Amino acid sequence: MAQAEVLPQTQQRTPGRPGDPCIMVIFGAAGDLTRRKLLPALYNLAKAQLLSREFAIVGVAHNQMSTDDFRNKLSEDIRRYAGGDVDPDIWEWFARRIYYITAEFDDKNLYSRLKTDLEKLDKDHSTHGNYFFYLATAPRFFGTVVEQLAAVGLMNQDNGHEWRRVIVEKPFGHDIDSARVLNQQLLKVADEKQIYRIDHYLGKETVQNILAFRFANGIFEPIWNRRYIDHVQITVAETVGVESRGSYYDTAGALRDMVPNHIMQLISLTSMEPPISFRADAVRDEQAKILHAIQPLSSEEVLTRTVRGQYGPGVEDSKRVPGYRQEEDVPPDSRTETFVAMKLAIDNWRWADVPFYLRTGKCLAAQSTQIVIQFRRAPFVLFRDTPVENLMPNQLVLHIQPEEGISLQFAAKVPGPIMRLGAVDMNFKYADYFGTQPSTGYERLLHDCMIGDATLFQRADMVEAGWCVVSPALDVWKALPPRNFPNYPAGSWGPREADELLERDGRHWRNFDR
Ligand code: BG6
Repeated sequence: MAQAEVLPQTQQRTPGRPGDPCIMVIFGAAGDLTRRKLLPALYNLAKAQLLSREFAIVGVAHNQMSTDDFRNKLSEDIRRYAGGDVDPDIWEWFARRIYYITAEFDDKNLYSRLKTDLEKLDKDHSTHGNYFFYLATAPRFFGTVVEQLAAVGLMNQDNGHEWRRVIVEKPFGHDIDSARVLNQQLLKVADEKQIYRIDHYLGKETVQNILAFRFANGIFEPIWNRRYIDHVQITVAETVGVESRGSYYDTAGALRDMVPNHIMQLISLTSMEPPISFRADAVRDEQAKILHAIQPLSSEEVLTRTVRGQYGPGVEDSKRVPGYRQEEDVPPDSRTETFVAMKLAIDNWRWADVPFYLRTGKCLAAQSTQIVIQFRRAPFVLFRDTPVENLMPNQLVLHIQPEEGISLQFAAKVPGPIMRLGAVDMNFKYADYFGTQPSTGYERLLHDCMIGDATLFQRADMVEAGWCVVSPALDVWKALPPRNFPNYPAGSWGPREADELLERDGRHWRNFDR
């Protein structure tokens, strides 16, 4: 793409204000999320001066540890996961404000003790009575923890000076009914504005860039509709298997794990109407409208418009890898899907008759998350001697990860004495323009919570709408006899039926080797 003028470093970002003074309480602090994501994100925020100087962290978990042990553990973790050298001054500042409580989450005494401890720390660190509670626990504790916090008054912000918030990790429920129950449980003791349902996809720069790309550029929005767009493809492909998460994953499967949450974010941001402002509810209202406009699949449509798969043994990077049923903590006769593809329709004026195809899976041939907007093919008249397969329709590809950027594919004349067409790409790569900075994707989300901006968090209605989209598939699959799994080898692009899903409509998945 044409080179945009790049602003000098100092003008590139409007400097954000640091988060409010506050204490972050992490339930489940001894786990992977804290060491791999939350801690490096907080460190990066401190480095960027986006963390208040009046800040403290309290870790809560059942692992026996003292505050000193926890500080030592995090000091080792940060060196491992910071993604670069750790500034000793920043870390020393940090380490002095980390605390730890050993407790079971369902122990009622924990909450009165926590309240007393927080009151003391609040004075020591001048955090103005602002607390946020990060639920990095097993999902079964989400409701209990929030209820108990409320029972001792820790969700109370009635005096109007201090705030209390809770960040709830995924999975938010196991299906539509459990998501509703959890919402009701939380909303009984907290206000919707205090609840930050996190989806880490919204922390990704490239996901946020979908909005900037669509609404800050005049040339794309006029053609962003059924008149010009033939279909949309969303691929979230992973090369990893279930790693050490077999026991969780086997109860979830690819559909629950990825579709009602991450993929619904990608669909809603790609297809929503322009919001009237960037205020949290203005953006989320538009996202919610799209989620409600996705047509629920009938039972027959589940059979023809969804595909599920499970990987068997295969080869990845020239190495033999085991099948899903051979993974740790996975039953040898598991019926859980590790791949899903779907064809969805959005029932509104902008998108009527434009199919949205999506696929996601583990142990696939490449790691890549992409949104492909395929435009309608040009009329043939001028190129009637050109074979149809050479007349490639324009594709705009939003590369979400690992390569971050945007590319536009169009047809160009192949040099030579005869008129032949070839598909070429114009490529924008984030790294070329903006360099790369260590980021976990949680920086923006944590900072937003500390300044009270819920735009990138899910409202109750959005979470429920996401579950409604996948409910028919969950119900029909459950009622069907077991599938003949495994049905794709690790290291491939999933079951053959996923290709047929598009081929039946005369379409193909974008070739990732291009
Ligand atoms: C998580 C899923 O929410 O997202 C994982 O539970 C998945 O199964 C992960 O691997 C993908 O996230 P990312 O950021 O690696 O694309």
